[in-house]
Amino acid sequence: MSTLTMLITIALLLVLVIAAVHLCQRSDPVLRIFPILGAARTVLIALGPKLRQYLVANDSEERPFSRLDREDVEMMSTGKISQIAFGSRTDLVAHGHEPLLKYRTFPRLPVEGTPEAETNSAGQGSLKTMGAARQRRYQYRPASIVNISGMSFGALSGPAVETLNLAAGIAGCFQNSGEGGISDHHLHGGDLVFQIGSGYFGCRDHAGSFSISELKERLAQGPIKALEIKISQGAKPGLGGFLPGEKVTAEIARYRGITQGMDCASPPRHAEFWDADSLLDWVEYLADETGLPVGIKSAVGDTEFWSDLATLMARDARGVDYIAIDGSEGGTGAAPSVFAESVGYPFRQAFPLVHREFRSRGIDGDVVFIGAGRLGLAANAARAFAYGADLVNVGRTAMLSMGCIQALKCHTGHCPSGIATQRPWLTRGIVPEAAALKVSNYLISLRKELFAVAEACGVSHPGLLTPADLTHVDGTPVDPRSTLPVPLTSVDMSA
Ligand SMILES: Cc1cc2nc3c(=O)[nH]c(=O)nc-3n(C[C@H](O)[C@H](O)[C@H](O)COP(=O)(O)O)c2cc1C
Repeated sequence: MSTLTMLITIALLLVLVIAAVHLCQRSDPVLRIFPILGAARTVLIALGPKLRQYLVANDSEERPFSRLDREDVEMMSTGKISQIAFGSRTDLVAHGHEPLLKYRTFPRLPVEGTPEAETNSAGQGSLKTMGAARQRRYQYRPASIVNISGMSFGALSGPAVETLNLAAGIAGCFQNSGEGGISDHHLHGGDLVFQIGSGYFGCRDHAGSFSISELKERLAQGPIKALEIKISQGAKPGLGGFLPGEKVTAEIARYRGITQGMDCASPPRHAEFWDADSLLDWVEYLADETGLPVGIKSAVGDTEFWSDLATLMARDARGVDYIAIDGSEGGTGAAPSVFAESVGYPFRQAFPLVHREFRSRGIDGDVVFIGAGRLGLAANAARAFAYGADLVNVGRTAMLSMGCIQALKCHTGHCPSGIATQRPWLTRGIVPEAAALKVSNYLISLRKELFAVAEACGVSHPGLLTPADLTHVDGTPVDPRSTLPVPLTSVDMSA
């Protein structure tokens, strides 16, 4: 038998086996009726996203990050400012819903005693100090306006967490631990913010309740500069963190105090507080016990909580030291699609709604405001500063700069770039020391771009941008006093 005949015979046998298996299975009617064509359809469905990503989708249509976004990040990860040739890639007039930054011909001169005059001492860092307003024992002024958002060890692989921490050290920023606690992978020189999720991983007792002594033990292990109570996350407000059993290795189970191989779901709400008042009590308790500034991270929907919080903070000495607002376009390791697509406001609605509650009571200066939700792209980040953010946290763009190819498989444990998986044969692809250089280049380039944009708007620091530096393309102002900076009806969710 010739080789060709043999190959054809094997192929026919394979087709017959597939047909037999599909004819005998009971769960899929299409495969029972069309065993071969149905199989071809399954293969095409599996290949579709890949073919579209590489061959079919145009440069700006993919989500969450378009090819152009990803190219920008890639360029920044080589240490360059993102550059394009031949002019804007966007139809700016048709794109009128997106506020633009107002270029200023001459810089505004700093006035003595105003925040402008403060900027020299801030360098590339925050204009505000976390914990200063409430005189915490260990106040913290982040040395970078761009920092790494919480992504837990569990959602991310050990080498990926290590890469982010090394990069944080090089770029002089902090890394938020995410809600999986602190692991050895977090201890490579970068400053840390310890995130306390509703599962209290890394700071819980055997029964799963919060334990202050466990927390203090963790604080002794690394350069933890602040605590963050995670109330919710933009991609899944009202749902606790979720780590599929597939990703719960023995090491992760040990750090979290959970069972290896079992799905790990945090409760939707904290057991330690139940309203704004009890939240503030807990914040003060944590701050007294540890001396650290204490912040909260949350998505935004109903504004009653924010109004209560701001009213209480304006009235007495209790208060959160920072507020991180995560837009509904934010990323996640795993979330039900209804939550990711339909619950909570996107950043550009969410942030001003919250900021306004504090500004209208004259206490916005006492709180450091952090933004997140596709703010790793310079234009979005610049707008966030203009809305009132003091810092931005970046998650997925840091992953992209490390080598993530947006395969959208974080929840399966099969991430092909080794970043959001725990499979050793995949994680071995990351060399933290090399990857950290790319991530730090990206963080530093983003920071540089933001300072350059601030300069173009006539101020010396992005933290000095205000809503007055924004305009709609038709010249109407982005009114800081209005409820929403952009009417919801005109929001292009794809932007
Ligand atoms: C893989 C992954 C894991 C995440 N894990 C956490 C987490 O543990 N805690 C948290 O508060 N947010 C988590 N997030 C959300 C990010 O911290 C961030 O708020 C969100 O992705 C928005 O930022 P981005 O648009 O720059 O990614 C995670 C996001 C991703 C992509």
